[in-house]
Amino acid sequence: MPENGNALDISLLPDSARIKNGRLSIAGVDLLDLASQYGTPLFVYDEQYLRDRCKEAVSAWGEGVAYASKAFLSKAMARLAYEEGMSLDVSTGGELHVALAGGVPAENLVLHGNNKSDQELITALEVGVGRIVVDSFDEIDRLVSLAKNYPPPKVLVRVTPGVEAHTHEYIMTGQQDSKFGFGFASGEARQAVERLQQCASVELYGIHCHIGSQIFMLDSFVKAVDILADFIKEFALPEFCIGGGLGVAYVEGEKAPSITEWAFAVKDACAKHNIPSSIKITAEPGRSIVATAGITLYTVGTIKKIPNIRTFVSVDGGMSDNPRPVLYGSGYEVFLPREVDAPRPMKTTVVGKHCESGDIIVKDAQVPDDLAVGDILATPVTGAYGFSMASNYNRLPRPPIVFVKDGQARLVVRRETFDDLLRNEV
Ligand code: LLP
Repeated sequence: MPENGNALDISLLPDSARIKNGRLSIAGVDLLDLASQYGTPLFVYDEQYLRDRCKEAVSAWGEGVAYASKAFLSKAMARLAYEEGMSLDVSTGGELHVALAGGVPAENLVLHGNNKSDQELITALEVGVGRIVVDSFDEIDRLVSLAKNYPPPKVLVRVTPGVEAHTHEYIMTGQQDSKFGFGFASGEARQAVERLQQCASVELYGIHCHIGSQIFMLDSFVKAVDILADFIKEFALPEFCIGGGLGVAYVEGEKAPSITEWAFAVKDACAKHNIPSSIKITAEPGRSIVATAGITLYTVGTIKKIPNIRTFVSVDGGMSDNPRPVLYGSGYEVFLPREVDAPRPMKTTVVGKHCESGDIIVKDAQVPDDLAVGDILATPVTGAYGFSMASNYNRLPRPPIVFVKDGQARLVVRRETFDDLLRNEV
């Protein structure tokens, strides 16, 4: 966070960001105009940026690379990722439903989940999802038996390699002590593969691992390859998937590797271990596809100055549209789209409108000193795990989503209404 009061580092904005007379446009669309047309809070996505990241993923990893839809899913996003050549990773029946509704063919879907229900497995088999990643012995039992009534699904075995990636404890998944996957060191991964080799109702197709999320150090992925290489070679299944997890820069001073650099590092590690090129190396990026494409717009409702202590700036959303600061202590920048290039000398705490003190969006936020009630305030890099983890806490309707491209805005998810909040009441 810039203690020095610098203007926003514009590398945190999507590529099509332009500043004219201080005002920010994305893809030729003025953000303040969007706020007045659609209201706030509002999620705005640079559509071309999303497409470019999908294209980059496909060219870096090759066919079979899947967008991890948990990062941000709507029908429009599902369709976009598919149009750009990606498969989609879905981890619940709900994500599966939305992806299919978005027009993604089932064969381009990869089903995940550490506790898939019978119904989720049956739906996956019925529609014919392309790949199922199995996570436990219980699931193998269920899948092997359910699959007898269907053409054999392609199955990958999720292995926890025992890598502790440098990230928040809640989003680390590669360590031994994890609810996910089959332990490598314990020999469970081997047992799972050997068991599936005996099962005619499924087609054993690959090895999968996912070591965590928001990872900046490519070494962590290389370490996973180092651990699994002999195992991968021994069974020589058609696919090895390294999962997702590539980090993105959220605040000034952070620097993340590109998707291309990530793929290069993993493929290079595989080549060094002589993993044959007949084995397809794939991945499942989520955050790195969508995070920087998204910006959230809020309206400032109140400013409370407590002399010598703190200034609270309250906006019209909060932990219901961005729970990441509360859950993981994640940092964000804030800026005013009316003067993006203005210095931000004033230290404030930007909070939401929920009924708890933990409802913080940015604890130490630097803002321009003319910030006033009624201003539109923006948080960049909110395209991942914001909308997808949004809630109706305090019965706040969830914000709409607008895609901008070539000077046009299109609403892809409308704002929830108060009646939507009553929709399921009986
Ligand atoms: N593959 C699997 C099996 C995953 O579990 C995940 C994320 C991904 C791929 C995509 O990872 P990504 O490329 O987005 O890092 N809510 C947290 C992140 C949770 C990630 C869960 N799994 C956050 O807001 O930081």
